[in-house]
Amino acid sequence: MRLAVIFLYFASSCQTVLFVKGGAGVGRAPASVFGELGQNVTLPCHDLAANVTPALTQWFKDGTNLIKRNHSSELKPVPGHLTILDNGSLVIVGLMTIDDGLYECQCSSKDISKVHNHTGVILQIVSSPDDVTLDISPAQKLPNGTLYVPNGTTVHFKCTTPSVSYPSQTLSWILEWANSSRSTLVSGNGTLVQFEDLNISPTYQGEHMCLVENTLSKKQMGKTLQLLVYYPPERNPQCSWREQNDSSIITFICSWLGGYPAPTLQWEDLASGGGAVFNSTDDTVEVTLNRSLLSDGQELRCQGKHVVMSDGEEKFCHLTLKTPYPEGEPLVTVVEGSNVTLTCTEKQSVPPAKTIWQRTVAHLDVKPSAKYVISDLGPTFSLTIVNITKEDEGTYFCRSENPVAARELEIYLTVKSSVSYTGGIVGMFLSILILGVGICIGMAAYSNRHRICLGYRFGFMTEERNDVLNLVDSEDEEIFQDAVPQLPVLSNGHSTTLVEIHRIPSSDHEDQENTQGSQENRDAIIVAE
Ligand SMILES: *[C@@H]1O[C@H](CO)[C@@H](O)[C@H](O)[C@H]1NC(C)=O
Ligand SMILES: *[C@@H]1O[C@H](CO)[C@@H](O)[C@H](O)[C@H]1NC(C)=O
Ligand SMILES: *[C@@H]1O[C@H](CO)[C@@H](O)[C@H](O)[C@H]1NC(C)=O
Ligand SMILES: *[C@@H]1O[C@H](CO)[C@@H](O)[C@H](O)[C@H]1NC(C)=O
Ligand SMILES: *[C@@H]1O[C@H](CO)[C@@H](O)[C@H](O)[C@H]1NC(C)=O
Ligand SMILES: *[C@@H]1O[C@H](CO)[C@@H](O)[C@H](O)[C@H]1NC(C)=O
Ligand SMILES: *[C@@H]1O[C@H](CO)[C@@H](O)[C@H](O)[C@H]1NC(C)=O
Ligand SMILES: *[C@@H]1O[C@H](CO)[C@@H](O)[C@H](O)[C@H]1NC(C)=O
Ligand SMILES: *[C@@H]1O[C@H](CO)[C@@H](O)[C@H](O)[C@H]1NC(C)=O
Ligand SMILES: *[C@@H]1O[C@H](CO)[C@@H](O)[C@H](O)[C@H]1NC(C)=O
Ligand SMILES: *[C@@H]1O[C@H](CO)[C@@H](O)[C@H](O)[C@H]1NC(C)=O
Ligand SMILES: *[C@@H]1O[C@H](CO)[C@@H](O)[C@H](O)[C@H]1NC(C)=O
Repeated sequence: MRLAVIFLYFASSCQTVLFVKGGAGVGRAPASVFGELGQNVTLPCHDLAANVTPALTQWFKDGTNLIKRNHSSELKPVPGHLTILDNGSLVIVGLMTIDDGLYECQCSSKDISKVHNHTGVILQIVSSPDDVTLDISPAQKLPNGTLYVPNGTTVHFKCTTPSVSYPSQTLSWILEWANSSRSTLVSGNGTLVQFEDLNISPTYQGEHMCLVENTLSKKQMGKTLQLLVYYPPERNPQCSWREQNDSSIITFICSWLGGYPAPTLQWEDLASGGGAVFNSTDDTVEVTLNRSLLSDGQELRCQGKHVVMSDGEEKFCHLTLKTPYPEGEPLVTVVEGSNVTLTCTEKQSVPPAKTIWQRTVAHLDVKPSAKYVISDLGPTFSLTIVNITKEDEGTYFCRSENPVAARELEIYLTVKSSVSYTGGIVGMFLSILILGVGICIGMAAYSNRHRICLGYRFGFMTEERNDVLNLVDSEDEEIFQDAVPQLPVLSNGHSTTLVEIHRIPSSDHEDQENTQGSQENRDAIIVAE
């Protein structure tokens, strides 16, 4: 559609009489008027009082007389290319490029002697920009007309205008971003501007405008297209969970961030035949499930789709639920007065279980105290019971619970009195020593009845004395315990135990007093374990 708008800019002064086109005039410069090619223009003859009809009006173009009108004459002017109106204005119909120039009018009122000089008007013939056509391809169109392209593709931008404006024009491709700043991507003076981006990036997202401007009149016309650059998130969706206060309820979270626009996400329960449990068109979707919907080995999958991904392509993350399974030693024996550490490992639970310790068949929660030290080192949970007493004997539970189920490891703690414990050690030494003595007796009998393998000091013993290894039994535990300290580890890495041997003369059995007296000697054997 052609616009019939004519831009008239008047300096509006009738006093300026001298003007040299293209040069500096005396006084103020004449006004400029743009006349649209093919349209009509009316050039006013100023400095006439309103409603005053001039007697004679003359119009000059570039200093030469163009047309004059004697207003007293009865003859009405015949409308032609040029016409002087009653008030002296000059009308030019169907402007042509040759019509541009400096127009001056000279009019006189009824009093012929009074001649007014009138300001010149520069008429510039222009043709305004007509229309532009924008094309961004290949691109997809949204229902509201906005175009989108996938990031990284090759995109061609082209703008054309059907005609070139007179006398010249500029055609520019301008991008305006969401932050309102603008950049001219390409411009030219012809009827076509175009460019191509082989690897389009999100910086091309914004309002794309093709603007054509008449270089003389500065009249513009343009069109815009909104372009969006779509890209899927770079990484895969992330599956995670959030615990709830109620341990039998859990919220599964699937998030797939970093894409534009937001993807569609769908949680699927592969156990129940792959049915979708939740759909979302946000970059994060949460679904809260309770224990009745959860089972061991159940697989939950979150599938993500993005508008610029090809149809078959999908990205997903998944979770396989596992019931907790606390493992450990079910039977623990400990000596009264010492400390004991019960341990339990929980490795398989998905989502991770909360593991606690309980005691007695009543399942009382064990609270950390001076008596109970609870530690949690990754998959290993331990409970240290300090200064064991007989009352600590009984059942302990390592209880692991996750939203799928709760499982317990039952540990029975047996507390032995220190007496029976010492008896055990004594029993061990007894067996070792009996074995050793047996060997020695055998060797002695075989080789030399005057030597005893247990030490050179035995070599000096008389035959009358019976050397007895006085192995302490349970009645003598006090003595034995004192006499059996742990020796430091020897260089060969074996720990050693000092074993005391009571050497008793043969007469001891008959003479109890002598036993109490001077005959008691002590020897040591080092028994390597
Ligand atoms: C220009 O003037 C002529 C004659 O008066 C008229 O027929 C024509 O419609 C005018 N054109 C415009 C665009 O006004
Ligand atoms: C204008 O026309 C009238 C009557 O036709 C005539 O008397 C007069 O002299 C003319 N004026 C000039 C300046 O030619
Ligand atoms: C002269 O008359 C024409 C038409 O009657 C009008 O459009 C124009 O504005 C007038 N000019 C002046 C300066 O009065
Ligand atoms: C009007 O213009 C003429 C020539 O263009 C000049 O001789 C004359 O002095 C001017 N008159 C006035 C009043 O400016
Ligand atoms: C067109 O739709 C897209 C996506 O729905 C939106 O981002 C964009 O702002 C819309 N454009 C306009 C001009 O409404
Ligand atoms: C767009 O694609 C280019 C190359 O294909 C890549 O380097 C860039 O990271 C992508 N941008 C986004 C936001 O995905
Ligand atoms: C506007 O955004 C564009 C691209 O996102 C950036 O290059 C430009 O610097 C921004 N301008 C301002 C003023 O922030
Ligand atoms: C267009 O611009 C080119 C170079 O910038 C110049 O050579 C050419 O003359 C211009 N054409 C027009 C019609 O202005
Ligand atoms: C969960 O427990 C916390 C603190 O015990 C409480 O502030 C919050 O309101 C509880 N949330 C629900 C959903 O019960
Ligand atoms: C989720 O969308 C799928 C198709 O995309 C549909 O079959 C399913 O019924 C939807 N599920 C829900 C819970 O909306
Ligand atoms: C038992 O544990 C307590 C507290 O940790 C400690 O003070 C004590 O020495 C330990 N006793 C033994 C025999 O290790
Ligand atoms: C261990 O328990 C006994 C009996 O309850 C107590 O007499 C003793 O002082 C305790 N020892 C320590 C180190 O707490």
